[in-house]
Amino acid sequence: MNDIFETRDGPVSPVEIGYMSETFTVPLTGSYNWDYQVVDNRIRKIYELGKILNWNSTIDLDWSSKFSEKKYYLDPSLNPFKDTVEFKKLSSEARLAMDHHTLAWTLSQFLHGEQGALMVASQLVNCAPTHQAKLCAASQAFDEARHVEVFNQYLKRIGVMYPIDSNLKKLLDSILTHPSWDIKFLGMQIIIEGLALAAFESLKNTAQDPLLKEILRLVKRDEARHVTFGVNYLQDYTPNLSPSQIKERENFAYEACVVMRERLVNSQVPSEFLHIPESEARDIVLCNVVMGEFREILFANIVPNLKRVGLLSASLEKRFSKLGIMKYVDFENADELSLASLETPLFKDKAS
Ligand SMILES: [Fe+2]
Ligand SMILES: [Fe+2]
Repeated sequence: MNDIFETRDGPVSPVEIGYMSETFTVPLTGSYNWDYQVVDNRIRKIYELGKILNWNSTIDLDWSSKFSEKKYYLDPSLNPFKDTVEFKKLSSEARLAMDHHTLAWTLSQFLHGEQGALMVASQLVNCAPTHQAKLCAASQAFDEARHVEVFNQYLKRIGVMYPIDSNLKKLLDSILTHPSWDIKFLGMQIIIEGLALAAFESLKNTAQDPLLKEILRLVKRDEARHVTFGVNYLQDYTPNLSPSQIKERENFAYEACVVMRERLVNSQVPSEFLHIPESEARDIVLCNVVMGEFREILFANIVPNLKRVGLLSASLEKRFSKLGIMKYVDFENADELSLASLETPLFKDKAS
């Protein structure tokens, strides 16, 4: 798989483009906005912070260390398979390789997810109805571009990349190809960004490499700003929707929560290394403490935010209760998304 990281100068041929890309059609309704005077101070502030808190992976990160084949990059004590017979039979080299491939699988999903976020943010520039939201979405598109860059750069160090998980792909497809701008907004800013915050935090807790931890910290700072943009903007918009439109958006959120709760699981790598069926690997991962923590962070972000934007009717509450995620509804995730936290200088909170 290493050749995917080969870089070369020169033009890309039409044949290469056909091989590398996958096209999709977007029924996008764009809008100009000629009123430059309407000011929502919350959105303006987020845009200002986006400009101030830009970081540059080439300058602000220390890439001098090399990737070591002899080092664990994830905390081995948190490996969901560490007590299985199959894992115990592996040589120490195979255990290390499994660790590196597990990390590569996770970071590959981050990379592909960031590409999806980049494209949705650029769609929002076209279809967001106010000029301030367009500026904020444009700033977000640049953030997502830097996220794509930094995860790609880190994966190059490992030398392994995996394709996008089919469930993550479906989720991104449904957002990218949806005709309603506010469902794109909901899907990206509340659902996918909430997923990203949880996934980055979860990996930050198990990662052992200081460079990777620092990347996750910086990316997470940007994502918290994006979630806040979504919550602030949808809070004002959702009350204007009809009951049937609310229902459609709640159904969208519910389906996404089901997928995120139990289908975004790395079963491929353990299945290949341990020679067990993917379904068995999936069950083991789902029962693991790390996955439990990930779900806690995920739904402690998403459920309160759905309530904040007015998308948590009694009927959705009932369905969320069945999923076991209503317990997060009053969780205070406001700290991370508070203005004080969003305003913290980038390089003074390294200890966080
Ligand atoms: Fe991102
Ligand atoms: Fe983002």
